[in-house]
Amino acid sequence: MIRLGIFTDPHYSSQQITCGKRYNSLSFEKIRQAYRYFAAADCDLIVCLGDLIDREKDRETQDLQLRRVAEIVRACRIPSVCLMGNHDAFAFTREAFYGILGPACEPADRVLDGKRFLFLDACCFKNGHRYAPGDSDWRDTYYPFEAQLQRIVSASKEDIYVFLHQDLDPHIPESHRLYNADGVNAILSARGNVKAVYQGHYHPGARCEYNGVRYVTFPAMCENENAFFIEEI
Ligand SMILES: [Fe+2]
Ligand SMILES: [Fe+2]
Repeated sequence: MIRLGIFTDPHYSSQQITCGKRYNSLSFEKIRQAYRYFAAADCDLIVCLGDLIDREKDRETQDLQLRRVAEIVRACRIPSVCLMGNHDAFAFTREAFYGILGPACEPADRVLDGKRFLFLDACCFKNGHRYAPGDSDWRDTYYPFEAQLQRIVSASKEDIYVFLHQDLDPHIPESHRLYNADGVNAILSARGNVKAVYQGHYHPGARCEYNGVRYVTFPAMCENENAFFIEEI
């Protein structure tokens, strides 16, 4: 059994409130609280599903805020993986983001306890171009590596668990879903070996089962008193 500590969408920044309901600056303490809880619960892996930070007025402050979060991550004995969300990609290049957070946080597919964990990066426009600092769109999201995913799902001897920031759950409003969600979902349901998809991005959160796959969208940390979860697989 693998015990995962999961949280998503802290949108941490120095701003007190954005979009009327995101309490950005409070997320630093919430992340710290989540890490304390995960450590006490003896999790095997901690996963942040993206939108870890939000933009600041200048690059220096942005770096400083991410460095503060990185201190919490590094102080914990449990390894962390952090997917980039559209807000992270708006603020940082991939290199800069993991340069500060630590290369160990960069998502890399792995087999743990006989289960295959796949981390998908859908921080792309539907034309296939990657988001870049100052240029991302929360409604225009796309996973460009369907053929590669199909090969992995076909060849896997293990049950598969998928993690991504944006949404594949067909019941979530289309604005939050991948442009090619139908194609990706067809790949994931083809063999019956994909057990669950874990997502963020849709802040209210949602759960459903569709074509034999369980879709879990975790509620946003920034919009709740706090929101962190333990998933035992
Ligand atoms: Fe978000
Ligand atoms: Fe997002």
